[in-house]
Amino acid sequence: MELWLATGNKGKVNEYKIGLKELADLKIFTQADIPSFTPRPEDGKTFLENAQIKARTLKAVKSGVWVLGEDSGLEVEGLNNLPGIHSARYAGPKAADSENIAKLLKMMTIRPIANRKARFVCSTVVFTPDGAEWHFDGVMNGTISTKPVGQLGFGYDPVFIPEGQTQTLAELGPGFKNQHSHRAQALKAFLEKLKA
Ligand code: IMP
Repeated sequence: MELWLATGNKGKVNEYKIGLKELADLKIFTQADIPSFTPRPEDGKTFLENAQIKARTLKAVKSGVWVLGEDSGLEVEGLNNLPGIHSARYAGPKAADSENIAKLLKMMTIRPIANRKARFVCSTVVFTPDGAEWHFDGVMNGTISTKPVGQLGFGYDPVFIPEGQTQTLAELGPGFKNQHSHRAQALKAFLEKLKA
């Protein structure tokens, strides 16, 4: 099975490799394997619309194979669900993960936010080799810590404490994420559908 991932995010690609390793004959490629590939702007209004933009743009140059596009992000209740679909670019168009985290923590202290409840959301769009479009979603609830802790993972992992845990995702690491994350839930649904 040849699966093309419509992402340039190495953290996500690592998680897909772990989450899909039960597929013995799987070969994973990404849009970075196509030197001339130009992503389209993510101008959708929802996670699903942005996942469709990513998957459709890659499918346009890669037909007859499996294509997966995913849009994900962090919704913080006390910030009216921001950064949401803007998670990757919260502190600016080319912001580093550390800059996005710094902006998030700053926004929560400018006007002290009592409600630190948050969730990660993942919307996944898969095109089968014959062009059918499948959708899978996942949500992970938690809270935002007061400072970044931990070295593992990517994005907002150092400030996200999953429900029922006392450590951040960046401390809990890939074993935990592969069982419980928003992305892992969507991936499990994809694997179930493949087996059905
Ligand atoms: P996307 O690549 O446009 O979907 O942007 C997703 C952004 O949401 C990432 O760059 C991270 O900032 C954040 N994000 C999504 N999933 C995760 C995760 O599993 N851990 C930490 N941050 C995440």
